[in-house]
Amino acid sequence: MTDTTQNNIDLFDLSGKISVVTGAGRGIGKAVALRLARAGSDVALVARSQNELDSVAQEIQNLDRQAETFPADLTQINQLPSLIDAIDRKMGGIDILVNNAGINIPQDSVDVTEEAWDAVMGINLKAAFFMAQAVGKVMISRGRGGRIINMTSQTGSIALIKRAVYCASKAGLNLITKVLALEWCSYGILVNAVAPTFIETELSKDFLSDPEFRAYALSKNLLKKFGTTDDVAAAVLYLASPSGNIVTGHVLLVDAGWTAH
Ligand SMILES: NC(=O)c1ccc[n+]([C@@H]2O[C@H](COP(=O)([O-])OP(=O)(O)OC[C@H]3O[C@@H](n4cnc5c(N)ncnc54)[C@H](OP(=O)(O)O)[C@@H]3O)[C@@H](O)[C@H]2O)c1
Repeated sequence: MTDTTQNNIDLFDLSGKISVVTGAGRGIGKAVALRLARAGSDVALVARSQNELDSVAQEIQNLDRQAETFPADLTQINQLPSLIDAIDRKMGGIDILVNNAGINIPQDSVDVTEEAWDAVMGINLKAAFFMAQAVGKVMISRGRGGRIINMTSQTGSIALIKRAVYCASKAGLNLITKVLALEWCSYGILVNAVAPTFIETELSKDFLSDPEFRAYALSKNLLKKFGTTDDVAAAVLYLASPSGNIVTGHVLLVDAGWTAH
């Protein structure tokens, strides 16, 4: 049996790898991009806001890693193949995709509009699938395997009020994760999801600043604290790195125990 500690193998090393992180301009995506870069990966950063991407790119370049920005609205599905082609050519391949970009529009189910449904599903589920498809094609044709990590949520496993569409988008992406793992295992492409509890970011700041909602959320949470973006990034690194070599089709809950009861 191989003792990896004696062989001095760094089980979290991503040297020589090329990652694509969507929603990389702020919040969880920014923390993921920085974590992967600190582990040795070069990173392609995707979101709509160029100024936010530029600032993350600068932080990564300060770590002596390559960082390139690719501003794009990922809901423009027909433009995804050319986006991925541009990333593949500029970076020299793609080893890791972190499908993180997402939105939430909390609404009672009686108030949900078709526009809100399409907006949430469009980025959280449809864009995530077609990004995985475009990157999967590159990984299959290059023949060096890869990792795809989808950012879902604890709400892919449990119900929360005002989140019928969001819950459906994340539950759908959890199951797409498993289907892609099944279809692409023979190419050495491992597909997993990370499913966080509430993390204090731009996306959650409105509802987490409501004292009643905050108290409710903490009452459900075994550790009585929200996660940080770094807590989520650590889970992504595990699944992206040699540590996760035989993990595929898994949904890794990073939920402070919310779903344990
Ligand atoms: N925060 C939480 O409590 C929490 C909990 C569980 C799961 N999550 C999931 O974690 C992911 C990141 O959330 P976050 O809290 O970090 O949110 P955030 O701070 O609002 O960041 C979202 C990122 O996604 C990008 N994005 C949104 N729509 C896009 C589009 N159409 N095309 C390209 N990029 C787009 C945003 O950039 P632009 O606006 O510049 O495009 C931004 O970089 C989401 O999938 C979310 O559902 C969050």
